[in-house]
Formats: sequence, structure tokens, C-alpha cells
Amino acid sequence: MATSILITGGAGYIGSHALVEFLAAGYRPIVVDNFCNSSPDVLRRVEALTGFPVVWHRGDVRDEGMLNAVFSQARQEGMPIDCVVHFAGLKAVGESVAQPLDYYDNNVHGSVVLLRAMDRAQVKRIVFSSSATVYGEPLSLPYTESHPLAPANPYGRTKAMVEAVLADWCASDAARTAVNLRYFNPIGAHPSGKIGESPRGTPNNLFPYITQVAVGKRAKLSVFGNDYPTSDGTGVRDYLHVSDLAMGHVKAVEYASRVAPGCFAFNLGTGRGTSVLELIRTFETATGRPVPYEILARRPGDVAQMWADPTAAHEKLGWWASRSIEDMCRDGWRWQSQNPDGYAECPTI
Ligand code: NAD
Ligand code: UFG
Repeated sequence: MATSILITGGAGYIGSHALVEFLAAGYRPIVVDNFCNSSPDVLRRVEALTGFPVVWHRGDVRDEGMLNAVFSQARQEGMPIDCVVHFAGLKAVGESVAQPLDYYDNNVHGSVVLLRAMDRAQVKRIVFSSSATVYGEPLSLPYTESHPLAPANPYGRTKAMVEAVLADWCASDAARTAVNLRYFNPIGAHPSGKIGESPRGTPNNLFPYITQVAVGKRAKLSVFGNDYPTSDGTGVRDYLHVSDLAMGHVKAVEYASRVAPGCFAFNLGTGRGTSVLELIRTFETATGRPVPYEILARRPGDVAQMWADPTAAHEKLGWWASRSIEDMCRDGWRWQSQNPDGYAECPTI
């Protein structure tokens, strides 16, 4: 019988790609999403893509009554939820500086409410969407999981706080397991071109900005700084294909079910850094689309460079990223060119 897992935020960019991988791996995912940054149309596309029905509930993770009902229903159906994969949250660094309470409320309070509902339902395993941003300014590179945590903005602090909450939650019951996945920079889209990243308004992140310039929605890209101490002066990040990242969640759920209980953290990245200009050039070559750009001043709060040491994920989870930057560009472009307005063009169900 298929194992039921609860996926919070399963209609979002990373959650929807993870949903595809969980369905393909034979799980029975149940999505809870309030659609504050997504649409139910995403779930319909996942159904079309995979050929599996998707069970979903419109709801907020801060609504404990709703969560209790979701856990109870799965139990009554004879397929109790075994593990939670917790993507739901807010993720814009700049917005977190302007509206910190929204971030502490959604990301930290929301996670605490979710854990209470899990306790009530006797669910002992969780996989959490953390972020490389918990490390802050790199003292050494690549970041290993033992690098001190010193997040530099409210968003990053919410992630570090939830990791601390999860450590205490695990310490208080010897049967509990939490797996914190510290993502580096996910980009691209499912190779089908049916699901992808669909930011509302002006993209905050580099890759969706590049694809929107390439498709003609924006005139040119602003490159934030070319005077960093990097090979070409532009910022360096560890970009990984969102489908590789999605697969990391399947591996993490498997790990949580076989490892002795406890609280764990894993970097999910490729271990390779790519500069802004390298990414632009690779995109242009892989897709044949020009990406006009101009060099502007540095963006406040950016680090010059960061990349992961993914050895622990490789050794313990059996996970590694296999897709290249070219793959990320080609797949991201397929999504953007086939869906110039993202999910906005789909009729709402
Ligand atoms: P996303 O905004 O596309 O997805 C988040 C989903 O959660 C959305 O569908 C949104 O509607 C939902 N949601 C938000 N608050 C909710 C709430 N209170 N209750 C129920 N649903 C809620 O973001 P994403 O890029 O898919 O990121 C997923 C997770 O990964 C987030 O926790 C994010 O902080 C983390 N993360 C993302 C990145 C990245 O670069 N995208 C990097 C590191 C970590
Ligand atoms: N950049 C530009 N122009 C843009 C956007 C970004 O030049 O329009 C540059 C940035 O200065 C940086 C690089 O592109 O050097 C990557 O920037 P992103 O905004 O795409 O990614 P960040 O590494 O700044 O942050 C992202 C997420 C965070 C997350 C972090 C680590 O936004 O939430 O990755 O996972 F914490």
C-alpha cells in the first residue's frame, strides 16, 4: 500500500516538482496549500503530467483545526500520514526585511502549529525546506553543514529558528526525526515544460529574470555588481536543477524512515559555483536567445560567492545533482517560452 505523506506548499515552485517525483516513486502525497503564492492550476498540470490524481486541501498551515482534520481523514481512510514535507512559507529576502512579522508568523509560527498537529496525530517525521541562507557570510567555502549559522536577514533567521525548533522537538521524544534540507539556488523547470517557476510581479531572483528578458517581457537584465573578488567580478552561486532538488526530498523521506531518529541537516547543491555572466552566456548558447544586460551597483546584502559541499547528502541520502547548467537553461527556457505568462494564463479551477 502506498505511503501517505503530507506536502505543505505543494503547489509552489519546488513543492510541485517534488510532488511529481513523489507520485512517480509510488507515494500518496496529500497537498495543503493556501495558494498565497501559487494556484490550484499547478496541481491540475501535475495530474496531467503524471497521470495520477492529486489529493489537495486549500488551507493555511497556521490553521491547526484544518491540519487535524487532514491527518484524521487520512487515518480514517486507512492510509495514515507517515511523514510531512514542509515547503509552505514566504521566501522573499527583501520583503522579509520590510515585513518581518509576516515572515516570523508564517514561517516560524506556521511550523510550530504544524508540529502541534503532527504531535496530535502521532506523526514523527518531517522534512523541512531550509536554505543555504542560514549560513550567512561564508567563513570558508564550500559550506559544510558544520559551518556556523549566522543568517543576515529576517527570512534567513526564520529558517535557522525553525531548524532550532526542530532540534528541540526531536530532543523531547526519542522517536522523532527531522531532516533539514539546506537548498542552494534551484533554477529551471520540469523537462516537460508543463510546470515551472511563475513569480508574481518582478522576479527577485536571477534566473526567472533572465528567462523573462529572453521571452521579451523585460527589456534587459540588471547585473548587480562586477567588482566582487570572483573570476569575472560577478556574484557566484551554486545553481541546481529544480527536479534534482525535488528528488532530494524523496531521498530525504526514505532516509527519515530508515535512520535512527534524530535531527539532521543536509546541503542540497551541486558543489560547483557559476557566476552571473557565466549563467547568462550558458543560457544564450543553450537556447539561442540573447539576454541583454547592464552592470549596476551591488545589491545590498549579497555575498560575493557561495557553493555547497554536498558530500553528506551523497553519502547519507544517496542523492546528488546530475543535471548540468545547460540542462537547467534549456528546461527553464522550455517552460518560459511555452508559458510566457506562467500560470497566469490558465483558467482557475
Ligand atoms: P513558493 O512560494 O513557490 O512555494 C511556497 C508554497 O507555499 C506556495 O504554494 C504558497 O502558496 C504556499 N504557502 C505559503 N504560506 C503558506 C501557509 N501559511 N499555508 C499554506 N501554504 C502556504 O516557494 P518555493 O520556491 O517553492 O520554496 C519552497 C520552500 O523552499 C520555502 O519554504 C522556501 O523558503 C524554501 N527555499 C526556497 C528557495 C528558492 O530559491 N526557491 C531556496 C531555499 C529555500
Ligand atoms: N542577480 C543579478 N540580477 C538580478 C538578480 C540577481 O545580478 O536581477 C545576482 C545576485 O546579485 C547574485 C546572483 O544573481 O549574485 C543570484 O541572486 P538570486 O537572487 O537569484 O539568489 P540569491 O543567492 O541571492 O538568493 C537565493 C534565494 C534565497 C536563498 C538563497 C540560497 O532568493 O531565498 O538563494 O538558497 F536563501
